[in-house]
Amino acid sequence: MLPREENELLARVGHSTPMGGTMRLYWIPALLARELAEPDGPPVRVRLLGEDLVAFRDSEGHIGLVDEYCPHRRASLWFGRNEESGLRCVYHGWKFAVDGSCVEQMNEPEPFCHKVHLTAYPTVEMGGVIWTYMGPPERTPPVPKFAWTQAPQTHRHVSKVIQECNWLQALEGGLDTSHAPIMHRLLKDNAGRGGISPSSAYVRAKAPSIVVDLTDYGYQYAGIRALGDDEQHIRTYHFILPFHQIRASRSERGNPVDAGHIWVPIDDENTMVYNWAYSVTDEPLTDQDRLERGIGNGPLHVDQTTFRSKANRSNDYLIDRAVQKTLSFTGIDGVNVQDRAIQETMGSIVDRSKEHLGPADKAIIQLRRLLRQAVNTATEGGTPAGVRPSYYRLRAAETVAPRTSDWRVSVPQGLSREEILQTV
Ligand code: FES
Ligand SMILES: [Fe+2]
Repeated sequence: MLPREENELLARVGHSTPMGGTMRLYWIPALLARELAEPDGPPVRVRLLGEDLVAFRDSEGHIGLVDEYCPHRRASLWFGRNEESGLRCVYHGWKFAVDGSCVEQMNEPEPFCHKVHLTAYPTVEMGGVIWTYMGPPERTPPVPKFAWTQAPQTHRHVSKVIQECNWLQALEGGLDTSHAPIMHRLLKDNAGRGGISPSSAYVRAKAPSIVVDLTDYGYQYAGIRALGDDEQHIRTYHFILPFHQIRASRSERGNPVDAGHIWVPIDDENTMVYNWAYSVTDEPLTDQDRLERGIGNGPLHVDQTTFRSKANRSNDYLIDRAVQKTLSFTGIDGVNVQDRAIQETMGSIVDRSKEHLGPADKAIIQLRRLLRQAVNTATEGGTPAGVRPSYYRLRAAETVAPRTSDWRVSVPQGLSREEILQTV
């Protein structure tokens, strides 16, 4: 459990909060690159860490991410004209370049542009995502060159979906291997829907022991499950501060991919979940893979204009009680729809003072400790974990190995002893 004040400190990310200040020291996904497909196209609303912003791609293809509200008299720039290398407010015609500088004031006989500035955040486009940095310029981190962002577009896929609860309980769900073969299990191998088959090693194995290897970007952790008398099922994940998960997975067609989520706070009570995957073989991803049918993050499950989940709180996530009896553990369609549903039932910001944690929650306990340490480090002016580029080449794995084997050796792409700071 967490005392109430500690819970508030970790969960809230507004401008003047400790966690909000810490998160602003990292590159943060702001929107998908495909949302700004063309120069001079329509601006896009972006709400990030409680701030209302507008993104636009100017005539030269440069990306602006600026305060939504015009510094003249606060009209929304989302209604603005994106034209001739800038975004023009339609109320009195003030115009702004991507760096926030004011370049025209149509209603002023003697313009005073040099006295006006619109808040603008720097961006980088990487991996089909437009990232921004909202912290002090002198602390700008190295660019977020995760391995998945470097995969060719043919082999990579990224989507996003709104989750209606605080970012931290969503992130905690992503670092909680103990729930996965329970909540996401199917009741029949041929259930014809997304989920984990009852005949798979993941479901057949016993409840996991959790081992956490602390690193300078966060941690690698493994869920180790006894499987029969002689074998063990091993699944590793990486957590990179402040909100990234990497895991081994399979595409819709069953080909090996690395995959992960990024849980980006829209504000304290809403989260934009980015879902990425890339093929780790020569095989490109297919249109079928990009539908994300089984995991429930693609156009079949998520409105691609609003990025809202079609199955949501207002319709009880379209739970089907007959399916729950016969085909799937939850009766809700889509693995990540199940995650969003159940994490939203915990409340907008879960009251962690009422929890009862056990050894299966070890990775979650460590996650909270690392976030607390990052806040302490950032508050003292230091560089928190996950800023330095030590996470660039990380991979995760899932395998079955002899019971007697050392999982750090039997797991491909596991970390070397030197890369592990401490095991807990
Ligand atoms: S409010 Fe934008 S130009 Fe006046
Ligand atoms: Fe899950």
